[in-house]
Amino acid sequence: MTIVEPDGAAVLELIDVSKAFGTVQALSGVSLKLVAGQVHCLAGENGAGKSTLIKILTGALHRDSGRLEIDSEPVTTATPSVLRAAGVQAVYQELSLLPHLSVAENVFMGRLPSRSGLVRAGELRDRCRVALDDLGLVEVDPSATVEHLPAATKQLVEVAKVATADRVKVIVFDEPTTALTEAESDRLLEQIRRFRAAGVAILYITHRLEEMFAIGDWVTVLRDGELSQSGPLSDYTEDTLITAMVGRDVTALYPDEEREERSERLTVTGLRRTPDSPPIDLVARGGEILGIGGLLGSGRSELLLNIFGSDPITAGEIRVDGRVVRPDGPGP
Ligand SMILES: Nc1ncnc2c1ncn2[C@@H]1O[C@H](COP(=O)(O)OP(=O)(O)O)[C@@H](O)[C@H]1O
Ligand SMILES: [Mg+2]
Repeated sequence: MTIVEPDGAAVLELIDVSKAFGTVQALSGVSLKLVAGQVHCLAGENGAGKSTLIKILTGALHRDSGRLEIDSEPVTTATPSVLRAAGVQAVYQELSLLPHLSVAENVFMGRLPSRSGLVRAGELRDRCRVALDDLGLVEVDPSATVEHLPAATKQLVEVAKVATADRVKVIVFDEPTTALTEAESDRLLEQIRRFRAAGVAILYITHRLEEMFAIGDWVTVLRDGELSQSGPLSDYTEDTLITAMVGRDVTALYPDEEREERSERLTVTGLRRTPDSPPIDLVARGGEILGIGGLLGSGRSELLLNIFGSDPITAGEIRVDGRVVRPDGPGP
């Protein structure tokens, strides 16, 4: 077990923090240091304490003991508004946008440009246009109503809201790519790299290992509410990271098992997303869990959208229990 802290001055530091919910010790004696211009990944199995840690760090939950410091100054009353004002921003998986309002109103919520109590719509739109362009979101219309936007765009609007906050020193991302395709995730990761280049300290939580390796500089692994390991991501492989998370060897995770072979439930033959994409065949039998692997951007999520019928295919056949089904593409 090795715990190494990143070099450099801490922008935000948690020191020996503990938190219990009744008899469940969600965090015990956890320390974490975030430095400017670094993406710090937080890893751990479900229930390891990741969300509890970030809720303490953003003021949504109160710690039982331990310290929280920003720029080496102790934060005594850690409420969400105190921490936001100090520059600690968060992007959650569950979005905080108001669906019936426009993109611009959401991005500048709570700080709309106004005169004599009236919102200056033109100025609001212009400022939002600049903010969206800065983030490379040139195709997003500031006047569009949020509820009609695709999930990925909503997530990016959420990022725009954080990026335009008055102070941005730390941004916490809690599983922001869960609902995104690989291409959409790539775009978000690109955005995070820009924040890093601008000197923001980033805490990044994802259950996608390859994403940690794509974006992370440092990793801290929690196990059962305790610090398991911490160090540069370049010191880890997927196997050693998994071992740190689960506490046993990876080989022990997949013991040989005898099972009877059942009939084919889902059969995909020669499926092509576009005329140029390679044909894909796969079979899932009853009682089987079929895993689909691949790197970021390799088309895993897109394949599932094709099989599910939400995206059209250009060639191939999908059978369920032997009967051909014809997905018609997205509904009206
Ligand atoms: N509000 C809560 N009330 C009771 N137990 C909780 C609460 N939030 C989290 N826990 C428990 O604390 C532990 C850590 O949870 P969590 O921080 O959500 O882990 P993770 O985000 O790593 O999956 C789990 O055992 C979870 O059941
Ligand atoms: Mg969680």
